[in-house]
Amino acid sequence: MSPTERLLAGPPLDGRAEPLASHRARLGELPVVPAAEMIAALEAAGMLGRGGAGFPVGRKWRAIAEGSGRGTPVVVANGAEGEPESAKDRVLMAHRPHLVIDGALLAARTLGADRVELYVGREHSAAVQAVRAAVEERPAADRALLHLVEAPLGYVAGEATAVVHYVNAKDARPLATPPRMSERGVRNRPTLVQNVESLAQAALIARNGPDWFRERGRGADRGTALVTIAGPVRHEGVAEIDLGTPLAELVEFAGGLTGTPQAVLIGGYFGTWARIEDAWDVPLEPESLKAAGLAFGCGLVRLLDARACGVDYSARIMGFLAAGSAMQCGPCKYGLADLAGASGRVAAFGAKATDLIDIDRWTGLVTGRGACRHPDGAAQQMGTAMAVFEDDFASHAARGRCLAGGTRTGGRR
Ligand SMILES: Cc1cc2nc3c(=O)[nH]c(=O)nc-3n(C[C@H](O)[C@H](O)[C@H](O)COP(=O)(O)O)c2cc1C
Ligand code: SF4
Repeated sequence: MSPTERLLAGPPLDGRAEPLASHRARLGELPVVPAAEMIAALEAAGMLGRGGAGFPVGRKWRAIAEGSGRGTPVVVANGAEGEPESAKDRVLMAHRPHLVIDGALLAARTLGADRVELYVGREHSAAVQAVRAAVEERPAADRALLHLVEAPLGYVAGEATAVVHYVNAKDARPLATPPRMSERGVRNRPTLVQNVESLAQAALIARNGPDWFRERGRGADRGTALVTIAGPVRHEGVAEIDLGTPLAELVEFAGGLTGTPQAVLIGGYFGTWARIEDAWDVPLEPESLKAAGLAFGCGLVRLLDARACGVDYSARIMGFLAAGSAMQCGPCKYGLADLAGASGRVAAFGAKATDLIDIDRWTGLVTGRGACRHPDGAAQQMGTAMAVFEDDFASHAARGRCLAGGTRTGGRR
């Protein structure tokens, strides 16, 4: 689907994992790069993490390399991908497991780690199998470091402290008082939790250097990125794009429209809604999206057809996120449940008189109050939906009428 590919270059994406021999023939051995040089290369590349928060990767590696944490570091490759409509990490792991493993081993070598946890969502069976088989193909010295952990189901199971908690104690709830991962994580040791795409990108930077990485990209944030496009396009699925590619071009890569989108959710269930006309020409890269009040997040681009109901769609996401919270902190226990209740009533034409005002107020109240960013993300999705589907929310609440014709959208919630 993509015009030019880096992470996804190589054999076709036909469900089969690229074997080690082919991976090596195409890309060569992972080079041995001195730690200081590798960290400087990541910083010079300016690569941002691809798991959702967009934190600079080089800065994270440096924090561990130079940090005050005690003990030998641990690397965790985060392939939980609990985001229901995102498929980029599972597609990458299922087809290019050795690139992900290269990235994880590179991080381990650079940081002096003696353990790599490959944390793969157990529901992504093709990815689990590919990663397991890829570990088996590796030489004994690599295998001694690599440990496959099947991540449990659940949206919060991919949150960094939940990942560490699960690896340590088989409990995938985020830690209520999270320690600094760079100091105390897996086995109480300094821990790098890095998204699998970020690690795969790092493995390419080790081979080709930061200038090569920065050759691609059209805006301030450089490189390519995996995105998942869903909705009324001919070919839904995963694409590798230059960061900064406008939505209009992504839709073209995806074979063009098969319907009339009214809005788009960018960045996943923690992401931001925009009217299609406001998002159509916006470059898909963190900085430009931020300037437009939007978020790149995990790279999900979900178009919503004009016949689908945005109120229903966003209320269902809210219900999913409320049910998927760890129920440890106030904003999740009460706020998200109340938001799900109120938005669900509006969607189902049973709104109470105060529901719209309450939704608006509660999205502000839950933000910044949890131990992790779960409530913030949920509130962001709800708040932007309220703005984009303002007339629809009002019509649902006041007149019990759906402006989109009341079509339910389905989806994987
Ligand atoms: C509720 C929640 C769920 C998350 N799920 C994932 C996930 O499935 N995969 C992932 O890589 N990051 C996920 N994250 C982000 C991680 O906490 C962390 O920032 C990320 O793995 C770091 O990798 P990166 O810097 O390469 O993006 C989640 C965050 C939150 C708050
Ligand atoms: S904010 Fe929510 S998801 Fe995050 S730790 Fe607290 S209860 Fe759990």
